[in-house]
Amino acid sequence: MRHWWHDAVIYQIYPRSFADGNGDGMGDLAGIKSRIPYLSRLGVDAIWLSPFYTSPQNDAGYDVADFRDVDPRFGDLSDFDELVTAAHAADLKVVVDIVPNHSSSEHPWFQAALAAEPGSPERALYHFRDGVAVDEDGVTTEPPNDWRSVFGGRAWTQAPDGQWYLHLFDSTQPDFNWDNPKVHEEFADILRFWLDRGVDGFRVDVAHGLVKEPGLPDVGEGLDIEMLGTTRSPFFDVDGVHEIYRSWRQILDSYPGDRMAVAEAWVESPQRRANYVRGDELHQAFNFDLLVADFDAESYRSVIDAELTTVTSVDAPPTWVLSNHDRPRYVTRYGDGKKGLDRARAAVLTMLALPGSVYLYQGEELGLPEVLDLPDHLREDPTWHRSGFTEKGRDGCRVPLPWKRSGPSFGFGEAAGWLPQPSDWGEKSVEAQDGVEGSTLELYRSALALRRRDVPTKVAWLPSEADTLSFHNGCFRCVVNFGSQPVPVDGDVLLSSADLIDGALPSGAAAWFSG
Ligand code: BGC
Repeated sequence: MRHWWHDAVIYQIYPRSFADGNGDGMGDLAGIKSRIPYLSRLGVDAIWLSPFYTSPQNDAGYDVADFRDVDPRFGDLSDFDELVTAAHAADLKVVVDIVPNHSSSEHPWFQAALAAEPGSPERALYHFRDGVAVDEDGVTTEPPNDWRSVFGGRAWTQAPDGQWYLHLFDSTQPDFNWDNPKVHEEFADILRFWLDRGVDGFRVDVAHGLVKEPGLPDVGEGLDIEMLGTTRSPFFDVDGVHEIYRSWRQILDSYPGDRMAVAEAWVESPQRRANYVRGDELHQAFNFDLLVADFDAESYRSVIDAELTTVTSVDAPPTWVLSNHDRPRYVTRYGDGKKGLDRARAAVLTMLALPGSVYLYQGEELGLPEVLDLPDHLREDPTWHRSGFTEKGRDGCRVPLPWKRSGPSFGFGEAAGWLPQPSDWGEKSVEAQDGVEGSTLELYRSALALRRRDVPTKVAWLPSEADTLSFHNGCFRCVVNFGSQPVPVDGDVLLSSADLIDGALPSGAAAWFSG
């Protein structure tokens, strides 16, 4: 049976930066709803909404205080219902984020845990432990183990009574204790809550982190847990997580319609990732290898081959991602300026020629670069604070979208956005690119329309020049020039990221050929 998510193009919306419907400088659900015609015209199949739940916003909403409500900054539950109805009416599926590794410290459960005694059932919903190294007043001075937060600093914070609680992310994001059946019951209920409201799927945040090794052993020296890195540890990719996803699969399968879930699982190898998409677990896992790959033929080919081999082994669809809200925008990663944009356009044609499911991040269709010069005092990413102001963090890829050539936030809303946009973003706006032949927006639209008509089914590599990749995907041929010299090509061009010059594909360009 063909499922919609097998070859869907899923567009990630970062609600606070997509469109501001009420003029308060922060994007919202009403803003998203107003842009549904834009998303339909772009040609995507689904939207994935990053968290819009009640939250103090210490990690831009990935710190959830109420998993069953909408934060007033973004609207309310009826706005959510209206958005789902409007999206479905436009034939767009809706995927929402679920954040099961941790809550906000403002979540009622955590507040109750802080108020309760050590050893109480309230504390058993999180990881509270006594520390070590008692001082003369009998207060512990060192946390229970050596774990570090992925945002920097240690992964433990001391409660007022001296016990410590675990937080793999910010100190305002305490980790749930998934050894506790109550946590399982709570999340099963949260899944049902949103499924009942009509969502088509979930993106599972930090899917690899929920279960910790018994005894919370030290990681020992030499294990440097970089931000969402792929190192295995006593808190990432512990085998016990798979039991959780088996039970979630049963919940998803018990609903009518074709509901799905995609794991954010940063794990050490494609094989470990495949464990998350075995037949009775989740439907997809993001393959982040393109997101971090260099722009060269060898890297691309090995990422593509590894993904196809891996997913085939578990009969799951491949997934592809070039950008998201956690990584620098790929135009900048590929060299910035014209070179970066050329390569980004070639990269997206390559990705869209591949079989499987594709995740796009808002603004990449406009060729937006990373914003590198945000004023430090406006940075909100906890990484910036927790690294002692040495890591700039992820705000540079979260700047509000430009919709119009002019205005206080280039059409993002009536007011300036929560982060300032570069002064030249009017020229990159939707308005400036709409209908303009050769614009990045029109390239995405054309590519998505062609991909919808000719759905890629395979990758058959063809002989090609050095620094070039060429493959047939069952519908058309894709040639990518990663090198510095033009490469002669032949055939009827369906679409290209740059004009051919005298029958040659320029450096840093890709083209699709019929037949
Ligand atoms: C999300 C991040 C978030 C972290 C903690 C990640 O994987 O994508 O944006 O900061 O989880 O929830």
